Amino acid sequence: MEQAVALVTYIEHDGSRYPVEVAEGDSVMQGAVNHMVAGIVGECGGGLACATCHCYVDAAWVDKIEPPSETELEMLESTSSPRRPGSRLSCQISVSAALDGLVVQLPETQF
Ligand code: FES
Repeated sequence: MEQAVALVTYIEHDGSRYPVEVAEGDSVMQGAVNHMVAGIVGECGGGLACATCHCYVDAAWVDKIEPPSETELEMLESTSSPRRPGSRLSCQISVSAALDGLVVQLPETQF
C-alpha cells in the first residue's frame, strides 16, 4: 500500500519554492531534510533542542496546526532569525491530510 502524502510548499528566503510530498506522520522538518530543502537544518533531529528548524507558517494555515507547546514557545525565543507571527519549529508540526497544501516560509538563516 502506498503511504499517504501531503503536499507541503517550502519557500526559501530568496523566494525559491519547493513543493514536496511529505509522508503523513512525518514532521514538516523531516519533509524538508529528506528532500534537501536547504533552509531547514533540523540539527537536533526533532528533539526541541536546537531551533534550527524555524519556519514561518503561512497566515492561512496558522489556525489549522496544533498550537505550540510551552517548550516550543521557549525555544522560539532562541531562533537566529527574527521571530514573527506564524513562527514555529517545523519539527513540531506533524503532517496529516488536513495539512495538504501547507505553505511555510523559511528564514534567512538558522544559525
Ligand atoms: Fe531541533 Fe526542531 S529540529 S528543535
